[in-house]
Order: sequence, then C-alpha cells, then structure tokens
Amino acid sequence: MSDLFPVPPDFAARAHVDAAAYENLYGRSLDDNQGFWREQAGFLDWIKPFTKVSDTRFDPDDLRIRWFADGTLNASVNCIDRHLPAKADLPAILWEGDASDERRTVTWGQLSDRVNRLANVLKSLGVAKGDVVTIYLPVIPEAFVAMMACVRIGAVHSVVFSGFSAEALANRIADAGAKVLITADEGKRGGRAVPLKRNADEALTSQPGVAHVVVVRRTGAPVPFSPGRDLWYEDALAAAQPWCEPVEVGAEDPLFILYTSGSTGKPKGLVHTTGGYLVHAGTSWKTIFDWHPGDVFWCTADVGWVTAHTYKIYGPLLNGATSVLFEGVPTWPDSSRWWSIIERYRVAIFYTAPTALRSLMREGEGPVRRHDLSSLRVLGSVGEPINPEAWRWYHSVIGAGRCPIVDTYWQTETGAVLLVPIPGAIPNKPGMAAKPYFGIRPVVVDAQGNRLDGVAEGNMCFEGSWPGQARTILHDHERFIRTYFAPYPGLFFTGDGVRRDEDGYYRISGRVDDVINVSGHRLGTVELESAISSHRAVAESAVVGFPHDLKGQGVFAYVTLKDGITESEELRKELVAWVRARIGPIASPDVIQWAPALPKNRAGKILRRILAKVAANDFENFGDTSTVADPAVVGDIVQSRKDTL
Ligand code: WT7
Repeated sequence: MSDLFPVPPDFAARAHVDAAAYENLYGRSLDDNQGFWREQAGFLDWIKPFTKVSDTRFDPDDLRIRWFADGTLNASVNCIDRHLPAKADLPAILWEGDASDERRTVTWGQLSDRVNRLANVLKSLGVAKGDVVTIYLPVIPEAFVAMMACVRIGAVHSVVFSGFSAEALANRIADAGAKVLITADEGKRGGRAVPLKRNADEALTSQPGVAHVVVVRRTGAPVPFSPGRDLWYEDALAAAQPWCEPVEVGAEDPLFILYTSGSTGKPKGLVHTTGGYLVHAGTSWKTIFDWHPGDVFWCTADVGWVTAHTYKIYGPLLNGATSVLFEGVPTWPDSSRWWSIIERYRVAIFYTAPTALRSLMREGEGPVRRHDLSSLRVLGSVGEPINPEAWRWYHSVIGAGRCPIVDTYWQTETGAVLLVPIPGAIPNKPGMAAKPYFGIRPVVVDAQGNRLDGVAEGNMCFEGSWPGQARTILHDHERFIRTYFAPYPGLFFTGDGVRRDEDGYYRISGRVDDVINVSGHRLGTVELESAISSHRAVAESAVVGFPHDLKGQGVFAYVTLKDGITESEELRKELVAWVRARIGPIASPDVIQWAPALPKNRAGKILRRILAKVAANDFENFGDTSTVADPAVVGDIVQSRKDTL
C-alpha cells in the first residue's frame, strides 16, 4: 500500500490554501517574514495599530521575543463583539452534556451578555488588569465565558484541568498568585460526578490569597458554601450590569498562563501574550482546518489543555465559527457517543487525539456504522505521534477515505501549530506532521548541535520566532532560557526527537527529555517521582515511560521501600491512590515494580536509560553499562521484571 495519500482534487479546488498557494506563501513567509505577519495581523481588530512587526532574537544571553509590541487591542472584542450584531442569534456553542439528553445552544448574543456580566462581577471582586484568575471548570459553556470575561478586563486566565487534584490546583493557584477562583459544584464524566467544589475548598485551605470563589451550578448537588467568600455564578450575573467596557491592553501584555510539566518536579507556568498569540491562533486555525463559513467545528480536548485554548476556544471564536462542546467521554453511555454527536450536529471538522482513536478502534466498526458521518470534511490529530494503524483507521473508517488528516505538531510553549499538512496543499503520509506552517523554520540537530541536512534524525528545533510562542515561564525566566534556548544557541529546542525523510516530511518520534506522553498528556517523570517519594513507606523511586497499546506511553514506577516495610498488594494500591491524590487520575502509575535498589552511576545519578529498557521488556540492549556503580542491581531488576511476565 502506498503511504502517500494525495489531496483529493475536489478538496483542493475549494481549499483556502492549495499546493501552489502553500509554496508561494511559505516562501514569502520566510523571505519577507515581517511583511507576511503584518498582513496576517490584519485579521485582528486593533485599537491602536502596531508600527513594528517583531523584535526577536534567540540568543540565550539576550533573548527577545516581541511581536506587534506597540499595538493595543482587546481579546474579547476580537472573539465576540466584532461578530455582533450580525451573528447575535446564531449559535456560537452547541453544548452536549455528559448525559445524552442534556443539550444547550449558546448564541453569540447570549455569549456576549454572559461575558459582559461576568466581567463586571470580576471587577466588583477587585480583579483588575494584569491580575490572575484561576479557572477550574468542566467542559461547559461557562468555561468559555470565564476566559472571555477575564480578558475583557485585561485579567489573565489560568485554566487548571478539572481532572487535577486539590493539591495540584493549590500549587497552581499559589504559583500564579490568583485572587479569584471560578469553579463549579461538580463536573460530570462518564456518568460519574467529579467533586470540583470539594477539591477547590480543600485547595483553598492553603491558599488564603483567594478572596472569592465564583461557583457555577452544574449539577445542583449540595456543596459547602462559604458566605462572604463564595458566590453563585447565576445570582451574581443576574445582579450585574449587562455592559462592561473592554479594557485596552498592549500586544505584549499577558493573555493567559497555562501550566505544563517539564523535566523538573515543578510544573511551569507558560505565559502567552495577547497580540501575537491571537494572530497565530486565529489565522492558523482557519487555514489548517480549512474552515469555511457554515462548517461546524469540534475539538474534543478538555479546556484545561493548550489544544483547547488555541483551537477549541480562541481559534473558532476569533473566526466567528460554531463549535460543538462535549462534556463527557467517548465511551459513555456507549462507544458510539462521539459518532452520534458528529451526526446530530453535522460536524464538518473533527479534531481529536490518537489515544482516543486507539481505544475506539478496539470496538470495531459497528459503533461507527450506526451513524451518518457524511458531514465530515477534515479530520485532525494532536498530542502525540499518531501510529500508522490508528491513522489508517481514522482515514478509512471515520473519514471514509475522503477526508484529509491534519496531524498538528505543536506544544503548550509554541502556542499554535508549527508542523502540519495543510489539508488542501500537502499530501498525507500516515503518522507524519509533515511540513512547516507559514513563517516556521524547522531545524534538525544532532546531540552536539550540528545542523543536519536532507534525510536526518535528531532533535527538533526551530529557528527564528513566530508570534504565538510563549514569552516566559512565570517567575522563572532563567528556566525558560535554560530549557528552550540554551541547549542549542540560536534555536528553540522542543524536547522532541524527529526524522526528516527524502520528501522533506517530518515525523516526530517523541520526547527525548524526562517528559513522558501519556494519552497525549504531558507528565514529568521527576514530578511523578516526587509524588511517589513523598509517601512515608518509600525510600526512593524512579519513573519511566513504557510502550502502552492505548495510552501511547504508560507510567512505570520503580519503587524502593524504606527498611522494615514489606512489599504488598495493598501498598501498591495505596501508592497508586497516593499519586492520584497528589496529581490526578491521569498520572496513575500503570506498573509499580518493587526494586530493592535502583541502578545508579558512581555520582549517584539514576540510570533511567536502563530502567526504560527493562520497562519495555528489552533485557539486552543496555548499551554501555560500565558506568553502573553496582551491576548486581541491574541483574536484580531484570529478574524481578521477568518474574512478573
Ligand atoms: C508535546 C507537547 C500540541 C498541543 C497538545 C499537547 C507531543 C503534540 C504532536 C503531534 C507528535 C506531538 C510532542 C510535544 N505532540 N502534538 N502531532 N505529533 N507529537 O501539548 O501538552 O504541550 O505537549 O506533545 O511530544 O512536545 P503539550
């Protein structure tokens, strides 16, 4: 079977960008980078137009990332006001709840009303320009409203995934210095309630700086309520004025903070700014999904991740597009749930993650065949490399061989897409994020930083800036420079490995740092180890990723217990529960293997390379083991692993 899937000619004929246009525009975006982005920036409504496009330098000693810096604007005006009054009665959001009989349509007019009122509520609670508001909400329209209300008054939103634990929430509130938290009584997923208010209350016991909590009534379940601190969202909105004057902010003023895991224990709060991010998000969304007016768009990501920030919320809103919002999970009440939603709302563009496709693929074609998916035109993938088998299933079973697959490669740090087969322009190769987006210069380097040309395998870097990239890590600019710009001076280093083939297509192979990608979620191994090692029974631990059929990578934890503590099934369960409580269910270890000792070098550094091999049941190719301080330790670990197989 050929592994090149040409662009369907009828698709190319009406696409925003076809092959010739791509060549043309891509060339121009590099040759006249300033001119290209100046033109793209015309997509936004500016209050004060910028005079200078960019001032950027990837020099670790003098890092500069500034785009459209002297322009001013307001994000919510661009996302909402400018679609009014024309779209006032048209749907902005088609929401479907966890239960299949719960539905709501939110029009642009209603969205605007809610956003203005909540913005006034936040103002009355003392939130001003530059203040951080933490948002801990399920996938409900109020999450959009909350984010937009913040940016209307120039406040900075920090959305925390509602699957994170109270402790993880508390850490993120503390780091961001949030004064106000917006949450809900409960969330609903797969028929089960998620105790958001209870988690929030628990988090706030250590966060007295949060003076107010706005609580959305999602399920109506009775929850604790602290008068004076807590207020009900609906009551507050009903009492608020319906118009809030948008606050003018500078292009380089922060828009939001989003936390992600890195190779140390502490999650990083990446800071995105207003002008550049909105230009990159809004223009790329329309181009890469080839959205045309009338197309219904659906991105399945949770609002807590960057995928949702850029391509579920900002991208569609900036373009005045109608989106589906689904609160639940693909397998509840049964595994045809997603396909029923595509049919009901006539979804044209569907954007999801490989891990979900792999689990739905296991259910066979039956659940798919029960629904009419003929409205689909474009399919998207994000979050991890999509394995060719899942790609082919997505293409043939979901897309009926007719829909291009847009494999979008980017990161929380990059703000928006860097590599992508633009659907009307670039033939697909399964599993390949393919080609650079406009203005993006990919560079492959070896471990020493030498640039590799032609067919090559190495580390994925990018040269030159792009407007959507993060500007810093909150409170830790040093770490920002050290992590992304110091490894290969002059380049931005992603932390990923890559291969470039003979056609100049890129295939991302996965992380090359101490980060693992579990079901498209980024987890730091060190963060996991700190959580495990904080348990009273644990002396030491080491976490590595291992190949997992559904999750892509699973969490494999080697645990050394303190003297006198006995290994037991109960303790294993307790440790899993412990990690869930420290971080959240997504971080649950899949395997915990007891290890009397961990392999280390003479300097005491844990040799993860060996541990990762053993976790993958590869007992031979350990490479150079002469650095292992005590070789017997490796033998013991291999033996215990073999015993469990
Ligand atoms: C990491 C970023 C992009 C938003 C969602 C995740 C991996 C992401 C792809 C892709 C191969 C991918 C990389 C990257 N990744 N998209 N299309 N193909 N790998 O954002 O949580 O910041 O994670 O996800 O390893 O570095 P994130």
